[in-house]
Amino acid sequence: MTMQNRRDFIRNAMFAGAACSVANSLKANAPAGGCATGAPMLGFACKPIENVRVGVVGCGSRGLGMIGRVSKLPGVTVTAVCDINDAKIKKAQSSLARQKQPAPKAFMGPEAYKALCDSDIVDVVYNTTPWHMHVPVALAAMNNGKHVLTEVTSAFTVEQCWQMVETAEKRKVHCMQLENCIYGEVEMLTFNFVRQGVLGEVMHAEGAYNHDGRSMVNDLYPAYQYWRYDWYRDHAGNPYPTHGLVPLCLTMDVNRGDRMDYIVSIDSKNAAFAEFISHRIRKGNPRKGQTMKVGDVNTSLIRTVSGKTIMLQHTVSVPRPYTRLQTVQGTRGIITASLWSKPGDRRKEDWRMALEAKCGDHKAEQWMGEEAFAKIREKYKHPLWKTIGDFATKVGGHGGIDYIQDARWSYCLRMGLPLDTSVYDLATTSCLCELTEKSAGNRSRPMDVPDFMRGAWKTAPKMGLVDIDLKHFKV
Ligand SMILES: NC(=O)c1ccc[n+]([C@@H]2O[C@H](COP(=O)([O-])OP(=O)(O)OC[C@H]3O[C@@H](n4cnc5c(N)ncnc54)[C@H](O)[C@@H]3O)[C@@H](O)[C@H]2O)c1
Repeated sequence: MTMQNRRDFIRNAMFAGAACSVANSLKANAPAGGCATGAPMLGFACKPIENVRVGVVGCGSRGLGMIGRVSKLPGVTVTAVCDINDAKIKKAQSSLARQKQPAPKAFMGPEAYKALCDSDIVDVVYNTTPWHMHVPVALAAMNNGKHVLTEVTSAFTVEQCWQMVETAEKRKVHCMQLENCIYGEVEMLTFNFVRQGVLGEVMHAEGAYNHDGRSMVNDLYPAYQYWRYDWYRDHAGNPYPTHGLVPLCLTMDVNRGDRMDYIVSIDSKNAAFAEFISHRIRKGNPRKGQTMKVGDVNTSLIRTVSGKTIMLQHTVSVPRPYTRLQTVQGTRGIITASLWSKPGDRRKEDWRMALEAKCGDHKAEQWMGEEAFAKIREKYKHPLWKTIGDFATKVGGHGGIDYIQDARWSYCLRMGLPLDTSVYDLATTSCLCELTEKSAGNRSRPMDVPDFMRGAWKTAPKMGLVDIDLKHFKV
């Protein structure tokens, strides 16, 4: 895509949001060659890094989680920690001390991340800041020649996604979103089913992040996160699309032979959130009485260039158990999983599968029995889960997926292998924040998903069955 095409896309997308013509944005998304042709960061690998030195920016719940796992990651040292809050830095330091890790250098203050990124004591910046800081921290890291691993949602507008892509390409560094859900057991099992043809040809999938997140915006709770509150107040659409979506993209070869073409999105009214805010925000909190833009339930539909469809859902404001939906429908059958959690029981499962033995035998009208499912689940268990699944479950972090994620990127960096997802995956999935908000605000009009790979998706290889060689990774 030329620079002109890229700017046209952004201008037209904005126009579409303000008024009526989305047709222009549809036209403007024609893939082309251009300043950077194709996807130079596709399959990118850097030289092996024997000991990966990590700087953690944002030592809140996610940052401290990563720090708490570091002694179980061979060849990884946290050499720097950064936060705006001294107490968080102290927590990070004592967690490392408890694990008998060397003391990290501390960077304190709202702009201290810049000095961390500029320092020569880190190879990788692990970005676990609030949403509005993701892009500034990631760009500072890359512009200082550091690889960056950045939490979801990694960027919020099409323009920011292009900035991430262009900076990674210019600086030749990794920019990977920390999408832990791609390492879930059922997500990886489903991926393997599809790779081995068990479900036949896939044409439809459904994913969701449905979580009662109201405690995070309730100032009576210690986990109160003003930044989430402010985002929900100021934005509609789906601000958190990646947990439900990215595993499906890998399974459905998005950016690897196919790509997301367009999306339509619709917001429900905001009834539960409004009621909660009016009852639960304390008097004296300046946010008391404000209204939220985010709908209680956002539902989006995506169509890929090859004609597959994805239903994606998001809610954080209704009373319900946590559920990550993963449904994949193929010509031979279906797998569907509601992944839900409650405190102390984060891996309670509800997985079901139905298969035809041959086309039209109607066997898939019944769900498979428990015994048959247990057998097929064991047979097609993803190699990575076979290698470190049990250990990961013991270490924990969303049932072990956080550990598997950290194990994989650190292993790849130490071995000089490409990471599992690239800056293009980050851009194509994160940009849906802006696109869902524009579509939902515009009677669900279709929004084009930009071609961040400038056509290179057509020939990009499919993802394989990744693993870790325990000769090089001690668990
Ligand atoms: N992948 C997952 O499963 C998952 C789960 C929860 C949260 N997240 C994501 O992780 C990110 C962090 O979430 P959290 O729950 O840890 O939030 P948090 O509020 O607990 O932590 C954020 C930390 O960043 C610090 N911070 C704020 N501004 C800063 C700045 N300018 N420089 C340095 N530090 C700064 C805060 O003081 C805080 O300690 C969010 O993007 C969130 O969406 C991902």
